[in-house]
Amino acid sequence: MNAQVMHSRTATDTTTRPAFGTKMASTMAVASFRDGKWSAHELRKFGPIEISPAAHALHYGSSCFEGFKAYRWADGSINIFRMDRHITRMRQSARGLVMPEPDAAQLAAMVTAVVDRVRNEVPEAPGALYLRPMLFGLGASIGGATTPPTEAMLIVLASPVWDYFSKGPKALRIYVEERATRCASQLGMIKTGGNYAAAMGPTTTARQKHQADQVLFCPGGEVQETGAANFLLIREGTILTRSLDQTFLHGVTRDSLLTIAPDMGFKVDERVFTVDEMLEWVKDGEAALSGTAAVLAGVGSLVRAGGTEYKVGSGDVGAQTRRLRSALIAMQQGEVPTPAGWTTRV
Ligand SMILES: Cc1ncc(COP(=O)(O)O)c(C=O)c1O
Repeated sequence: MNAQVMHSRTATDTTTRPAFGTKMASTMAVASFRDGKWSAHELRKFGPIEISPAAHALHYGSSCFEGFKAYRWADGSINIFRMDRHITRMRQSARGLVMPEPDAAQLAAMVTAVVDRVRNEVPEAPGALYLRPMLFGLGASIGGATTPPTEAMLIVLASPVWDYFSKGPKALRIYVEERATRCASQLGMIKTGGNYAAAMGPTTTARQKHQADQVLFCPGGEVQETGAANFLLIREGTILTRSLDQTFLHGVTRDSLLTIAPDMGFKVDERVFTVDEMLEWVKDGEAALSGTAAVLAGVGSLVRAGGTEYKVGSGDVGAQTRRLRSALIAMQQGEVPTPAGWTTRV
């Protein structure tokens, strides 16, 4: 066993696991867009980059990113889950922000090159290698408030990760935000930093005032999504989740769960629903957050403005949430076959 493998094995000890996203893999991939075209990418040691303080992204928020994972399977192979979908979403985000669009084949090559280079740093299950492509606008002009960047940088970072929620598999407490929106409505399905900045205030307040783990945004009383995950209700064999529209991020985990659910005996109901309907469902149902980082995290309670609390089912992570979570993890870990094209072996 070489030193790097020994190191990652030690780090999976629960007492020494770093917080999600705080440890970076040793290599990153970098490409630049200039004069209307992408440069060849290069692999570099993870570390600082130099950009102009006048860079477009630093002033006008021209940035987008992705988040997905590579898993070490029991046979030792490293497999990326649903890379194509995430690359498609990254390109859609770039288009939505009028930024240079990464080439799909080049981005895939950058991701697989990084994973290959750091394969010894991929933790064993339940850990994974979190992959973070990021695109941001450059150029040295602070006069670009109404013009998109003509130069940009594309970087693929990687980070060995374990649990996203520090509470581990414990049920979450969610604040139901019925007034503020998570982001500008036309940016909902775009994964851009400004959306997270917009949600930071309401999320911090909900943490301080209501001890909430996350905020469920329900502008105008319609249930949408949380700050970093989609939202699902489960009751009597039916999964209810908001139908796709421009107002929220189209989660790949959401799509994976809804794809496998019918074979597990669930009916899938995708439609707009209200906070009142949600509060009826959770009396004897389950609620969960879905996302690459959260996987499928059970909700134990909902709290509304004024502090009224609503228990979700028994208050623990529900049985159907556990079942769906296990089924998804089994696919991510290569224990059961996935639909075609969901895994990329590196
Ligand atoms: C706002 C938001 N919604 C939903 C998701 C879930 O998306 P995915 O399942 O593709 O990770 C995320 C996570 O990336 C997110 O940040």
